[in-house]
Amino acid sequence: MMSLHRNKVIVVYVVMAAILIAAIPCVTVFASDENAEMIAVGERLVHNMDCNVCHTPKVFTPSGPKPDISRLLSGYAADEKLPPVPEGQIGPHGWGGLYNNSLTAWVGPWGVSYGSNLTPDHETGIGSWTEEIFVEAMRTGRHVGSARPFLPPMPTYSRLTDEELHAMYVYLRSIKPLKNAVPKALPRAQAVK
Ligand code: HEC
Repeated sequence: MMSLHRNKVIVVYVVMAAILIAAIPCVTVFASDENAEMIAVGERLVHNMDCNVCHTPKVFTPSGPKPDISRLLSGYAADEKLPPVPEGQIGPHGWGGLYNNSLTAWVGPWGVSYGSNLTPDHETGIGSWTEEIFVEAMRTGRHVGSARPFLPPMPTYSRLTDEELHAMYVYLRSIKPLKNAVPKALPRAQAVK
């Protein structure tokens, strides 16, 4: 009697284990589907909010500059040489600013700012940023989430929801990490006369 009961218990365990093992692939597929969906939402947001305009170098086509997908969101190309800023042109009675052909370097009354590398490269991109740092940076408009305020023309995106910022972060983690050390912004005194 005793051993019959034990056998039943073993059978129940075996059946439970089989169910669990069978469920594992479903859970994995489900999780990766969810992730793919989140990446797609993030990509749409990043695309629609024009992050590529200032953070992706361009290729030049007969119909004008287009984002260079092979360097997606890798920022101002560190090996690009900018021409000198013409003296006396930028100011309250002159021009408001200048930008390079890729729209990744911007000169204005603040000095020179460069579209940063948003790829997950650890040394030169935002690979070491936690989601909290990304959310703080986007919401408060501060470098690495808490340092100096962003320079123009980086917009402040203070009205994005937690879900939207999460999707954007997940998408940015999913793109190809590209090594490109964007230079530090230059203060006006060093760049604009
Ligand atoms: C009009 C140009 C422009 C657009 C559009 C733009 N950026 Fe920027 N972004 C910049 C510039 C220039 C900087 C560097 C600012 C500085 O040095 O303070 C910057 C900086 C950043 C930083 C800060 C990096 C750091 O080191 O702290 C993040 C993050 C960022 N941008 C994300 C985005 C995302 C995401 C989008 C789209 C939702 C976007 N940007 C759209 C121009 C732009």
